[in-house]
Amino acid sequence: MTNATLRFNDKAAEQLLAVYVTPDMAEQRQQVIGLLQLKPGEKALDIGSGPGFLASAMADIVGSRGEVCGIDISPELLALAGDRYRHQTQLKFLHAEASSLPFADACFDVVTVTQVLEYLPDVRPALLEVHRVLRPGGQVLILDTDWDSIVWHAEDTARMKKILSAWDAHLADPYLPRTLGSSMRETGFQVGEQKVIPLFNPEFREESFSNRMIDLIGPFVTGRNGITAEEVMAWAGELRRLGQEGNYFFSLNRYVFVGLKPDA
Ligand SMILES: C[S@@+](CC[C@H](N)C(=O)[O-])C[C@H]1O[C@@H](n2cnc3c(N)ncnc32)[C@H](O)[C@@H]1O
Repeated sequence: MTNATLRFNDKAAEQLLAVYVTPDMAEQRQQVIGLLQLKPGEKALDIGSGPGFLASAMADIVGSRGEVCGIDISPELLALAGDRYRHQTQLKFLHAEASSLPFADACFDVVTVTQVLEYLPDVRPALLEVHRVLRPGGQVLILDTDWDSIVWHAEDTARMKKILSAWDAHLADPYLPRTLGSSMRETGFQVGEQKVIPLFNPEFREESFSNRMIDLIGPFVTGRNGITAEEVMAWAGELRRLGQEGNYFFSLNRYVFVGLKPDA
């Protein structure tokens, strides 16, 4: 049994990629991009860039006169993102920690942090770093999930509860959105638009977010809270059977906070 949060090693990186290529995640990224004030020629930072999809979309916006840097602590994801987006010369990926950014003060116009702060035991050092590297008037966009917002239909509801409760340990704060606005204000940001982005799979599809999540959740919860490999197989099997029978239902909420570093 282990207490560690999810580490994006080779296998998990592959499973994360399978989740991120789904139409559900593409739609979420479109909504995020729509909230950014990023312009051609500007400089942006994506903290915890993972497979690099958002950083790449931002690189398209800033164009060849601009610059985008993705930072991450996972060597596997940095390698994967670097390979995928080698053709975008204005995009770089660097190994760095969210709470200790290797950049000068006030050097970015826009910073994004999507589904990353929830992995940190304390979000304040990272928020202070974002504040430091943003120029006055610069924009930060933060997106995190409240994992209590999952509604996932199962016949064996006790098993579903047990598995989701073990999954909560995959990050430091599964309920971060509830306190994020106040943490942002305390670290010097003006909080602007706040928005919920629902992920909704009312029917089963191979390429849906929740189907791909089954393959990420299963290996993580096996061996935790007394959950056996057989239980995980039965859980996954039940969900996919419900899907085939036309009785599938999944939804989950992401919360977005757009902040501004006030002009000095
Ligand atoms: C769920 S993924 C999100 C990826 C990406 N931001 C997105 O939304 O498409 C979380 C990412 O945060 C990275 N991460 C976790 N803790 C970090 C930290 N302290 N500093 C930088 N990156 C971190 C992980 O390695 C992983 O790539």
